[in-house]
Amino acid sequence: MNLNLTDKTAVVTGAGRGIGLATVRTLVDEGVRVVGAARTITPELKETGAHAVSADLSTAQGVSALVDTALAELGGIDLLVNNVGGGDGATVGFLETDDSEWVGALDINLLSTVRTTRAALPSLIERRGAIVNISSILALMPGGFPVAISSAKAALTALGKSLAEEFGPRGVRVNTVSPPSTRTPTARSLSGLPRPA
Ligand SMILES: NC(=O)c1ccc[n+]([C@@H]2O[C@H](COP(=O)([O-])OP(=O)(O)OC[C@H]3O[C@@H](n4cnc5c(N)ncnc54)[C@H](OP(=O)(O)O)[C@@H]3O)[C@@H](O)[C@H]2O)c1
Repeated sequence: MNLNLTDKTAVVTGAGRGIGLATVRTLVDEGVRVVGAARTITPELKETGAHAVSADLSTAQGVSALVDTALAELGGIDLLVNNVGGGDGATVGFLETDDSEWVGALDINLLSTVRTTRAALPSLIERRGAIVNISSILALMPGGFPVAISSAKAALTALGKSLAEEFGPRGVRVNTVSPPSTRTPTARSLSGLPRPA
């Protein structure tokens, strides 16, 4: 596949495994220079050849460290993939979901994207770049999953639409992907399926 992305630059969050790692691999194969971030730098992420950053993206400091490193390493950002998100899936019911779980879900599924996007936008505007946010089918069809995560994903989907309206006219394309259940290591462990070797 040739997507004419050679020598473009990208930042991918949640890049250590699953959908984020697959995104990094695809971009690197297309000749994109990639900075990928997760708390754990996995051997698989290292093997891609992407520049790996260890950061907790549920915090403002973690996001700031990532974007500062990406700008220094890449010289500018053409593509931002806000993939980090999810949760531990331990609580299903609304009455069992306490404030700390709501805050945690909002930090990793919504505020991580708010902060990363805010920090990267000046460069994305300058380079007429693109943003892809990884939301979830749960944003559109909540139910049977922790309520805080579904709600945070719905907010993320709304954020993507707002960003597209505001920054599309300034040359930045914003799209939201809403995957259904996808067989990543985390999804397998939540569903009781064995993790891949
Ligand atoms: N898999 C599905 O069925 C499915 C369905 C719909 C939507 N999605 C969405 O797709 C995205 C990716 O899902 P996935 O299943 O590929 O996830 P995953 O396999 O659990 O991978 C998540 C990645 O994010 C990193 N991460 C988690 N918390 C982090 C934090 N606080 N700071 C920095 N990095 C962090 C993880 O590494 P560390 O833990 O080492 O930091 C890992 O590299 C998520 O937004 C998820 O909600 C997934």
